[in-house]
Amino acid sequence: MVIFKIASDLHHYLQPLRIKDKQIGFVPTMGALHKGHISLIEQCKLKNTITVCSIFVNPTQFNDVKDFDKYPITIEQDILLLEEAGCDVLFLPSYQEVYPQPSDTEKKYDLGFVETVFEGAHRPGHFNGVCMVVERLLRIVQPHQLFLGQKDYQQCIVIKKLIEIMQVDISVKISSTQREANGLAMSSRNRRLNEIQLAQAATIYQSFIYIKDNLTQQNAIHLIEQAKLILLNNGFDRIDYFSFANAKTLEPIEFWDGETPLVALVAAFMGEVRLIDNMLLTN
Ligand code: PAF
Repeated sequence: MVIFKIASDLHHYLQPLRIKDKQIGFVPTMGALHKGHISLIEQCKLKNTITVCSIFVNPTQFNDVKDFDKYPITIEQDILLLEEAGCDVLFLPSYQEVYPQPSDTEKKYDLGFVETVFEGAHRPGHFNGVCMVVERLLRIVQPHQLFLGQKDYQQCIVIKKLIEIMQVDISVKISSTQREANGLAMSSRNRRLNEIQLAQAATIYQSFIYIKDNLTQQNAIHLIEQAKLILLNNGFDRIDYFSFANAKTLEPIEFWDGETPLVALVAAFMGEVRLIDNMLLTN
C-alpha cells in the first residue's frame, strides 16, 4: 500500500492511471477502522482496479468539541488492517492539506429538506462539514466510484445530493451495515463502551427486529413508542430520535400508508456515547 500525505502527490500518482482508464474506487473514513470499513474496502476492490482509502478526522463535522476530542485515533492498527485487506492507496492528509485556505471552512451547501431532520436537526452544521470534507476529498481523488456504509443512512443521502451539486460523474455504492454477533452496528464509537454497555447497546437492533416482525399499517406509531421504552429500560440514557421515515426522502412518518418505503432511524445516548443506527423495513 502506498501512503500519501500531500494532495498533489496523490493526484500525480493517480492521474496516469486514470488516463490509462483504470477504474478508481474510494472509501473515505475517519479511521479507527473496523470490519464495517474493511467490508467497504473489499467491495471497492471487487469493482475497481485501484482502491483508495482516506483517513482524516474532520473537525468541521463535529458539532460537539468533546466528541471530536474523544474520537479514537488508531492509525498504526488502521494501516495494518488496510494492508491486510489489500488496499492500494491510503491518503492521510493533515488539516492544512484538506483546508489550505481559511475560506475552505466557510462554504455553505444548500442541502434542502434532508438537512433539517434527524441528524441534521440534532447536529447543526454536521452535514455542511461532511460536505466540505467530502467535496475536497472527491476533488483530490476523482474516483469513479464512492463507497459508503448504510449505517450513516442520512449521510448517504446527503453525499448523493452533494455529488449532484458538484455535477460530477461519481457512482455511489452503499454497503449494508456490518453488525457484531449480537446485532450491534459496528462503529468506531463502540470503542468507548464498556462490556456491559456493548451488550446493552444491541437492544437497538433487537428493537428494530421487534418492529420489523410486528409492523402493520395500524400499529406503526405504537411500535415506535414501545421501541423507545425498550432502549430506555436497557441502559440508554437519552434518545435524540427514534422514528420512521420515507426511505427515499427521509420525511418523518407518523401514520404509515402501508406502501411508502419505510426506514426506522434512531440516535440514542449510552452514557456520553451517541449511537446511531437504522433499518429498512420494506423492500
Ligand atoms: O462517515 C464518515 O466516516 C465521515 O463522515 C466521512 C464520510 C469520512 C467524512 O468525514
